[in-house]
Amino acid sequence: MREKILVIHGPNLALLGEREVDVYGRFTLDEINEALKRVAKEEEILLEILQLDSEGEIVEAIGRAKREYQAIVINPAAYTHYSIAIRDAISAVGIPTIEVHLSNIYAREEFRHRSVIAPVAVGQISGFGINSYILGLKAAIGLIKKRD
Ligand code: DQA
Repeated sequence: MREKILVIHGPNLALLGEREVDVYGRFTLDEINEALKRVAKEEEILLEILQLDSEGEIVEAIGRAKREYQAIVINPAAYTHYSIAIRDAISAVGIPTIEVHLSNIYAREEFRHRSVIAPVAVGQISGFGINSYILGLKAAIGLIKKRD
């Protein structure tokens, strides 16, 4: 059976390409997803990609992931900085999770410097635009393949 990775884009990320392009870059979410699918195909991994604006939906998606996915790549967007519910969901399912951010959250406003997700993630990639996702996905694939 092929390994499966769940990618979750958090709130407002559907607006990529038009939203604060100087901060987040000009790639649209579809372009990011296409790039991720290309990597997954090369690596023979199955991907499910969700964009969810609401915290509850993200918590539900993580909860459902338990038996189906071997890793999660998540950009929790603004929830990064305060969602204990998403942090608890990640910790509850125990699926290796990689946190990604397009922008370097540590080079921005102080309220973005804190991630409540990072302590329950395997690691965090922040500041490389679309490449944060690619690197995050490759890191997740590396984790899965090593476990075989
Ligand atoms: C973000 C950074 C967050 O602080 C912000 O709320 C976002 C996007 C990023 O990808 O750089 O919505 O997660």
